[in-house]
Amino acid sequence: MTAPIRFLTGITTTGTPHLGNYVGAIRPTVQASRRPGTENFYFLADYHALIKCDEPARIQRSTLEIAACWLAAGLDPEHVFFYRQSDIREIPELTWLLTCVTGKGLLNRAHAYKASVDKNLALGADPDADITAGLFMYPVLMAADIILFNAHQVPVGRDQIQHIEMARDIAQSFNHLYGPHFTLPQAAVDEMVATLPGLDGRKMSKSYDNTIGLFTAPAQMRKQIASIVTDSRAPGEPKDTEGSALFQIYQAFASAEETETLRKYYREGIAWGEAKTLLFERIDREIAPMRERYEALVNHPAEVERILVRGAEKAREHARPFIARLREAVGLRSLVQQGAVIGKKAEKSDLPVFKQYRETDGRHYFKLVDAAGRVLLQSQGFDSPREAGQTIARIREQGLAGLAGLAAQVQRPHDLTENELTTLLSRLRQPD
Ligand code: TRP
Repeated sequence: MTAPIRFLTGITTTGTPHLGNYVGAIRPTVQASRRPGTENFYFLADYHALIKCDEPARIQRSTLEIAACWLAAGLDPEHVFFYRQSDIREIPELTWLLTCVTGKGLLNRAHAYKASVDKNLALGADPDADITAGLFMYPVLMAADIILFNAHQVPVGRDQIQHIEMARDIAQSFNHLYGPHFTLPQAAVDEMVATLPGLDGRKMSKSYDNTIGLFTAPAQMRKQIASIVTDSRAPGEPKDTEGSALFQIYQAFASAEETETLRKYYREGIAWGEAKTLLFERIDREIAPMRERYEALVNHPAEVERILVRGAEKAREHARPFIARLREAVGLRSLVQQGAVIGKKAEKSDLPVFKQYRETDGRHYFKLVDAAGRVLLQSQGFDSPREAGQTIARIREQGLAGLAGLAAQVQRPHDLTENELTTLLSRLRQPD
């Protein structure tokens, strides 16, 4: 039997679950958890919630609601690893180990951080005004979530792809320095999973305040659905399904056949009011059977708490021995353990070195090679050894920045990421 593929994903606990969360994350993960040959780690990202939310009661409530929602939708906590991020003490510990191998430049390039900086710049404010170090570190915490469990696949929406790529980069940097401890994760973006539009037609999201609550009372849901934007076509006039938020939401719940029927009604000029009733009824048919279980769980938080605590215990059976191995790898060790007296010299010989040489073409070259003989940088020929030496000095002094503008003269292997290189070059520059 081949080893199972490990899937892992989290939901940030800052709000009440809405239809977009259900269609985009809850429903597909519950379905996926039943696939044979997989292991599934699903968690409530409450450490991430702290980055966006400073209301303690809201974080607690949201954690309860999202957990209850996952369970009401059919997640079997015996069959998957289902836990609360903040119960896994190894996550913040790993976050620090990873912080120390992550190039600051890598984090500067994160979309969410850059967007905040751009907003400040547009306002003429300090670039980092109101930006917490938490927001800046978000990708490192997320990398820790993922690679602590050596996940292969991370089901996420498109907006999270960059974070998974960063997790890969960070894992690679660590592996490069300390040995192959981490699996390199991949983003699993399911094209079949719909991104729901919200009431105003933009992506359904709490930040746009355009959501439809998943377990709001039916009368309330009817009202919210009634406020979905439509065009001004009168009953009897044919309507466009293209660009119709109402149609797209319907499609996310309906079978192909039901969708075709609604398409036909659109052509025939169904009144918007009637279409909204059809939408409400279709959603309610899927949600109503879960509502009772959801309410029961939300009204018995002790039951949910028990499930999450048990889930964390199960997950920590993996995390605990793994973090012990990682601590050992980086040198956080008992002093009586073998290896404590190994001096700086042995460590130093592991660092990459620049080698200058002359080829039969009479030109002067250099390369940067690591202890294992892997070529990390390779120069083109220079006319004099002095020029080669000056280029080396520039790279030593300026790190990755020193390489900018040298693309024609100095090449690196394709599988060596910028982040890895930043790390390597910063170690080179450390004084003795
Ligand atoms: N950042 C994710 C989001 O906002 C939530 C998240 C936190 C996550 N840690 C994760 C998703 C690890 C996948 C894997 O949607």
